[in-house]
Amino acid sequence: MQDGTEPLGGLRRTHRCGELRTEHVGQEVVLMGWVHRRRDLGGLIFVEVRDREGLAQCVFDSAESKSAFALAERLRSEYVVAVEGKVLQRSPQTVNPNLATGEVEVHVDRLRLLNPSRELPILVAEEQNVDESKRMQYRYLDLRRPRMTRNIVLRHRFTKAVRDYLDSVGFLEIETPMLVRSTPEGARDYLVPSRVHPGSFYALPQSPQLFKQLLMVSGLDRYFQIARCFRDEDLRADRQPEFTQIDMEMSFVGQEDVFGVVEGLVAHVWSTVMEHQVARPIRRMHYKEAAERYGSDKPDLRFGLELHSLDEIVRGSEFTPFEQTLSSGGTVKALMVPGRGAISRKEQDEVGALVSGLKTFYASRQQGELKSSLLAKLGAERVEKVLQALGAGEGDLVIMAAGPAASLNGQLGRLRLELARRYELIPASKFEFLWVVDFPLFAFDEESGRLVPEHHPFTSPHPEDAHLLDSDPRQVRAAAYDLVLNGNEVASGSIRIHQREMQEKVLGCIGLSIEDARQKFGFLLDAFEYGAPPHGGIALGLDRLVAICVGCDSIREVLAFPKNASAADPMTGAPVEVSQDQLDILHLNVRVPQGAR
Ligand code: AMO
Repeated sequence: MQDGTEPLGGLRRTHRCGELRTEHVGQEVVLMGWVHRRRDLGGLIFVEVRDREGLAQCVFDSAESKSAFALAERLRSEYVVAVEGKVLQRSPQTVNPNLATGEVEVHVDRLRLLNPSRELPILVAEEQNVDESKRMQYRYLDLRRPRMTRNIVLRHRFTKAVRDYLDSVGFLEIETPMLVRSTPEGARDYLVPSRVHPGSFYALPQSPQLFKQLLMVSGLDRYFQIARCFRDEDLRADRQPEFTQIDMEMSFVGQEDVFGVVEGLVAHVWSTVMEHQVARPIRRMHYKEAAERYGSDKPDLRFGLELHSLDEIVRGSEFTPFEQTLSSGGTVKALMVPGRGAISRKEQDEVGALVSGLKTFYASRQQGELKSSLLAKLGAERVEKVLQALGAGEGDLVIMAAGPAASLNGQLGRLRLELARRYELIPASKFEFLWVVDFPLFAFDEESGRLVPEHHPFTSPHPEDAHLLDSDPRQVRAAAYDLVLNGNEVASGSIRIHQREMQEKVLGCIGLSIEDARQKFGFLLDAFEYGAPPHGGIALGLDRLVAICVGCDSIREVLAFPKNASAADPMTGAPVEVSQDQLDILHLNVRVPQGAR
């Protein structure tokens, strides 16, 4: 039985397992950690002991220490141990170049078993395709896996670098409430019933948007927060119901100032955490240009495959689908895939099926000869011009399609991404940042027949377009911007409205009357009457940024305890039903639709 007051048996840890290097050779060390792997070679047992920092090979030799050897024979995966021994240089044949500690090993004199482990439901030592729900159910074991540990460590370093940088340029870290009033931000709220105010609810914040604007009215000038946000929306690989923003707001600024701070921030973080120099200034692209050239408002610039208009080239041809599209105001576009001209029929069908509803046509030149199913209809001259316009040479493939501009751009944008994946055109470890600017202020919601804010209702119109608010609101650009990294929207922000009249006018455009607006966030409108400074800001999605840094598609890989696709936590079982007593205290009656449980 272990002594509860001294579970370590008098041993004190001297080093982390992952720290040992040749400079430690000859030293007596004490390591503590988990049995990662164990190999029994008869008179010799090798045990890799693992802690947060990595692995150390520990050697038990029956000739050197009988009692340690006897205990080592009983060790199993994930037992918790303390070892004491001497660091020795490994012989050249046994050096492990794949391990940071691979040049040394510890010859153990003393072993103490600190805790055994039951047989594991998921393996820690092997990278294998474990069902994700199992990984989430045993998340505390999943996080022991070196890859996951590294993700969590990198997330810490990333966040620390953010804090250091923002502090160095005068930002104050200020916490804002979690129990807030429901405000219009686009997604559904998570609600929290009030015990003290029967029938009333708090909302969990979708973002600290209104509070950060109020902090500017308070004169705090530069605010930031590593802010937890909650949104009840459909989940995807890059969306969690609770996620973290690097949230910022600044006073007396325009767009350039916000860009300056964010560029300084990402440059600092990337050089500190990734040892990568971000090219500055970060490129900028108009929202419209992004849609036309890349078919996306978050273009991935790590590879080409740009979309080109063929309207002028194909106009007047005998190919009816193109002619009909053009005469009904649509467009014909193409993209070029280098070196894929020799595409088989079967492959054409596969490529055509990558994006549903998109009809694709092909052209190429092989051994000097034009190849295209449209050769007869378009004529050789036009096909030749198409190849030229796309910069396609011998052996390159041009893919054409026609349709209404907005939907065709979107479809070709998706095709572009699918093709890049299929033909492995996306370079690894490249970081392509891009500012997308000049978004429209409003989008038209077909369902309600109303204008809705493209960003949120506190975004200022572009100063050059404000006069159009009354006459032609759909043409008004917003002073809003997104930061895109490798095709992911990693931040979004805007210069805000800081005057009450403008705020009321914009709310009017989205069909919110002054009374409605007063009822929902009169406190903000009031605040604007007490000397609100011009201000603006942005929020960066921390989870997405870290996921990109560690090369994962899903932000679940960089969250210690994520939710699954149905917003549940397989480990704790949340959400769960609560007792009638709890409901009574909150004055709640629960009505569950038939078959919903
Ligand atoms: P927005 O809603 O665009 O802006 O959010 C900013 C950034 O947060 C990240 N993000 C998410 N990450 C993971 N899961 C989610 N469900 C999720 N939703 C958003 C994205 C996004 O770019 N208050 C404004 C910002 C501002 O105007 O200052 C806001 O929240 O990377």
